[in-house]
Amino acid sequence: MREGIDEPQPIGSLPGQMQHSRESLREEVRQLKDLGVPAVMLFGVPLNKDHEGTEAFNPDGIVQLAIQDLRDDHGDDLVIIPDLCVDEYTDHGHCGVLDDLGQPDNDATLEIYEQIAVVQAAAGADIVAPSGMMDGQVFAIREALDDAGFDEVAILAYAAKYATALYGPFRDAVDVTIVGGGDRRGYQQDVANAREAMEEIREDIGEGADIVMVKPAMPYLDVISRVRQEIDIPLAAYHVSGEYAMVHAAAQNGWLELEPVAFEHIGAIKRAGADLILTYFSRLIAEGLQ
Ligand code: PBG
Repeated sequence: MREGIDEPQPIGSLPGQMQHSRESLREEVRQLKDLGVPAVMLFGVPLNKDHEGTEAFNPDGIVQLAIQDLRDDHGDDLVIIPDLCVDEYTDHGHCGVLDDLGQPDNDATLEIYEQIAVVQAAAGADIVAPSGMMDGQVFAIREALDDAGFDEVAILAYAAKYATALYGPFRDAVDVTIVGGGDRRGYQQDVANAREAMEEIREDIGEGADIVMVKPAMPYLDVISRVRQEIDIPLAAYHVSGEYAMVHAAAQNGWLELEPVAFEHIGAIKRAGADLILTYFSRLIAEGLQ
């Protein structure tokens, strides 16, 4: 979703993907729904970014309006999952508000996440999906939702989210550049570590997560498989922008065939144990399954 556009804008680094206007999103989701896609995840690019990412919790912000549009169109027949983070909304590109040293301030950020959760729930979200990897975010959001009377709104926690080099095309898609050439290694998982990811998963479940997610997917099938063996709640996996873009780039060069490789990727994630798969290939897979 991009605020302030009338026509969908193609995303160069994600062939086949668009930044949507309100109208084009409605049409896209109608088609996906007809193809059998049961749920959508929404990300927003606001017209104005600021230090705290205030557009993320504006009741008239672009994602909140999109949630209402889709709820009007589909009633209870579509699962609507807004991403809950501020990096697309901040002028510095971090997933939280910054302290005096320019680093994300964990606890100040939680207060903002609480406000976003309540505004998204009020707009009609079924599930909120905190992706900022702040400590205690699931607990804080659960409490805020319950206090506001949204105890039926579920939390999909980006629990084991690695500080991978595979998010590049996404940051392009949402106009995010981290200030000063910074990165997210302070709050995302170390690529070399599997046990720490298990800890994060257990913590998020303890804090009230209804679904936990591993991200990215293909290079982390060991983590997906391990989580599947050790925990009983629904497990999601996110096949991220870089994974999608690599397959497209190779296919554009004639080096491999797009559709069978897409099916192999998504099939492998399922085989490893994911119950839900978040993927930019959803249309291609749904069409292939008709
Ligand atoms: C953070 C967020 C990111 C993605 C989803 N939510 C990027 C990041 O952590 O920099 C990446 C998704 C993708 O690469 O497809 N709000």
